[in-house]
Amino acid sequence: MNKALIQDSSLSEADEIASSGNFIIELINRLGEKDYKPLIEISHSLAEEYGEKYILNDNTIGKYFNREGSLPIIARFQKKIIGYIIGMPLELLSQEPWSRLDENYGKFNTLYTYAFVIQNKYKKNGYAKTLKKVYLNWAKKREGIIFSTGHVKKGISSRFKGKIEIINQIENWQGTEEIFEYYRRNLDPEKIHQKKVG
Ligand SMILES: CC(C)(COP(=O)(O)OP(=O)(O)OC[C@H]1O[C@@H](n2cnc3c(N)ncnc32)[C@H](O)[C@@H]1OP(=O)(O)O)[C@@H](O)C(=O)NCCC(=O)NCCS
Repeated sequence: MNKALIQDSSLSEADEIASSGNFIIELINRLGEKDYKPLIEISHSLAEEYGEKYILNDNTIGKYFNREGSLPIIARFQKKIIGYIIGMPLELLSQEPWSRLDENYGKFNTLYTYAFVIQNKYKKNGYAKTLKKVYLNWAKKREGIIFSTGHVKKGISSRFKGKIEIINQIENWQGTEEIFEYYRRNLDPEKIHQKKVG
């Protein structure tokens, strides 16, 4: 039997899009079940601050990682998953009232950064920075995508580099009793990628 034809569906199908030593960044094409558990574990750290809604489960993993149009990127250290960032087209978040209020809703030009998380012990050493950089680079290469948006705690976005505007402020984001801002980043202010697409 031809071994190449045997595929283990529990393994993720991913492209390595950046690496440095033991640190690897992968763009997920289809997430295999072997990677569900570590992602679910890491998502718990989001719940501490943002609520249970952010804890991944088998259903939401399918929704965020295996959905056409989404941009799920994971970071591994020594092959183990240590973090992830997920971009979702605004239009896939139609159940969220704020998504439909964005002036670009329906234009299919915006990726919403749904989650960005790195395990505690890998924070503040450049891994998150690299993950974010790679994510933004891939976002801008997506056909039709001009903006990325996201909700961050008030004050965080003022440290972001690039072309950022604050769209609005939410007094009690998702019941966290924290003030969050909805920001928009123009991914392609020089319109380099738009020209290619258009
Ligand atoms: C957000 C997180 C991944 C950043 O990791 P870190 O190692 O602490 O990151 P650093 O301080 O080195 O910052 C890395 C980059 O992420 C940016 N950043 C920090 N917090 C961010 C946030 N909430 N959303 C988007 N970007 C953020 C920083 O501005 C920096 O960007 P730059 O490279 O353009 O300067 C990490 O703190 C974490 O996992 N937090 C818990 C989960 C969370 O709050 N996620 C955000 C909401 S989904």
